Amino acid sequence: MKKLIAANWKMNKTVKESISFVKEFEKIVNEKDVDIVICPAFTSLNVVANEIKNSSIKLGAQNMHFEDSGAYTGEISALMLKEIGCEYVILGHSERREIFNEDDFLINKKVIAALKNNLKPILCVGENMGQRKNGKTREIIQNQLKNCLGNIDKNQILKINVAYEPIWAISKGNPNHKAATAEDAEEGHKFIRSVVEKMFGKNISKNIRIIYGGSMKPENAKELLGMPNIDGGLVGNASLNAKNFAEIVQSAK
Ligand code: PGA
Repeated sequence: MKKLIAANWKMNKTVKESISFVKEFEKIVNEKDVDIVICPAFTSLNVVANEIKNSSIKLGAQNMHFEDSGAYTGEISALMLKEIGCEYVILGHSERREIFNEDDFLINKKVIAALKNNLKPILCVGENMGQRKNGKTREIIQNQLKNCLGNIDKNQILKINVAYEPIWAISKGNPNHKAATAEDAEEGHKFIRSVVEKMFGKNISKNIRIIYGGSMKPENAKELLGMPNIDGGLVGNASLNAKNFAEIVQSAK
């Protein structure tokens, strides 16, 4: 399966900084064997779309609202993202869940709206440290998948990329933060695949892309991406530097 490496810039990079990243990155990487997605802040989507229009890099957003339009001050819709050139959208990131109180049912509405507008969701799931210590990892992941993937047409499931992001492994901007070990990540991915199999059957579970997020960096990318059930990465902090992000993309080949 073709690997997906997505940059989640979070609330980083001005328009100017976004443009200079893409210019530098495009000089180093011209990779057709890996799906590369850049998810900048909303304010940089337009300029990044323009910069990448002649390359194979794809554009993604970090969030969206579930309605196409309406009285939702401060929100952005799937329709708007599609028009600007987005192909992907990150949904249910743990920072959205924890800081902005998004729950599985809201995220499910967003997944449905994204698919309706032909956007490919990158759906994040994962447990926090307390849940892990209490042996609740599987239960948490299974519930997130069941709720967030409810009421979705089976024919649409393979447009979804699941991102396993154990919350305790997310760097929060600290470059020295420890990622999950490749073995722990692989175990999570295998479990996610088994839940998808129970929900949608073997054919879909075999072909759905499950990517890993949480302190992925040049030093550990090769090992993580070498695991049989890890089909790519959602990269936060290390994606802010063009050289580091390029190295991660190269490790996905
Ligand atoms: P990180 O972020 O790579 O900085 O840990 C990943 C994410 O939160 O998507």
